[in-house]
Amino acid sequence: MIASSIAVSLLAAAASAQQLSSNLTQVKDFGPNPRNVSFYIYVPKTLPPKPPILVAPHWCHGTAQQVFDYRSWASAGDQYGFITIYPNTSNFADQCWDVSSNATLTHNGGGDSLGIVSMVKWALKKYGGDKDRVFVTGTSSGAMMTNVLVGAYPDVFAAGSAWAGVAFGCFAGDGFDVWSDGCATGKVIKTGAEWAEIVKKAYPGYHGFRPKLQVLHGTVDTVLYPQNLQEEIKQWTSVFGYNPTRNETTPNTPLEGWTRYRYGPKFEAYSAAGIDHNIPNQDDLVLEYFDLVSGHVMEDQLRQSLTVPYS
Ligand SMILES: *[C@@H]1O[C@H](CO)[C@@H](O)[C@H](O)[C@H]1NC(C)=O
Ligand SMILES: *[C@@H]1O[C@H](CO)[C@@H](O)[C@H](O)[C@H]1NC(C)=O
Ligand SMILES: *[C@@H]1O[C@H](CO)[C@@H](O)[C@H](O)[C@H]1NC(C)=O
Ligand SMILES: *[C@@H]1O[C@H](CO)[C@@H](O)[C@H](O)[C@H]1NC(C)=O
Ligand SMILES: *[C@@H]1O[C@H](CO)[C@@H](O)[C@H](O)[C@H]1NC(C)=O
Repeated sequence: MIASSIAVSLLAAAASAQQLSSNLTQVKDFGPNPRNVSFYIYVPKTLPPKPPILVAPHWCHGTAQQVFDYRSWASAGDQYGFITIYPNTSNFADQCWDVSSNATLTHNGGGDSLGIVSMVKWALKKYGGDKDRVFVTGTSSGAMMTNVLVGAYPDVFAAGSAWAGVAFGCFAGDGFDVWSDGCATGKVIKTGAEWAEIVKKAYPGYHGFRPKLQVLHGTVDTVLYPQNLQEEIKQWTSVFGYNPTRNETTPNTPLEGWTRYRYGPKFEAYSAAGIDHNIPNQDDLVLEYFDLVSGHVMEDQLRQSLTVPYS
């Protein structure tokens, strides 16, 4: 079964009101891109030196344009001085990301993940971006891709924020864009050590920096069952060497009924009581987690005009 089961009414309510804007620019010929992912970018008119870069992969049945329209990343980028990359899948069957192939789950192995990383590298070079402040966030399929990118490219990303996704490798299957009913329904259950091994195999021999990660999930999600939050917790606490049962528990954060569990400086999980797959995004929470807000607000004297047009 493919992801037509993800009848994502995500943001359907917002869809009627919003005027589609054409502020996105498409970039072509940006480097290795074996799965022909399309690259759209939003570059604020003024940028600080070494701007951070945010990658915002869409959900299933979603598009780059929809993420642009329904998330505040671009206007936040105007305010705080960062670039947003909106990749668009070429999987027109269901607009889900390839989070199953060995290629996408392998560092420099290919798949959608490599195309997206090529976009990051292109933008870092083109705009003199800060390679230590590259972030990724998404919901549903975008959250799965967030797990994939921080897992397979720990050298590229500083942090990720995954909303209603699944653990790295949970959708692993025979080929590209395979839909895993087993994973979606919370039946792919592994130990932390097993999950961590899958992450380590994605980039054999790598012992460098690993991005910090926050994961969020509703307790009544019937598209990607809430067991997937537990699997993410086991996976990333094991990768970081944190005790999965010891956490700092903070109720009603950021919303009433949501509970934050912090396991260590690099990993936190939120369980949102009574929330289904249409998890309401909290853009401010993500921007703060990535430290795109505090301490990095552009000073007037730091602003510089962007004179080089993008191609
Ligand atoms: C790549 O995708 C675009 C649409 O996004 C399409 O127009 C183009 O034909 C595709 N190219 C290849 C080689 O598949
Ligand atoms: C992304 O792909 C979808 C599906 O082909 C298309 O409707 C949309 O125009 C593309 N571009 C953007 C910017 O979303
Ligand atoms: C998009 O473009 C419109 C019209 O040019 C502009 O008013 C709006 O502020 C832009 N949005 C963003 C997020 O930059
Ligand atoms: C996965 O892909 C990598 C890189 O392309 C390759 O070295 C490895 O043999 C593949 N593993 C499997 C199980 O196909
Ligand atoms: C968080 O820690 C408490 C004990 O301090 C434990 O009872 C609870 O199960 C933990 N929750 C999660 C989601 O790890």
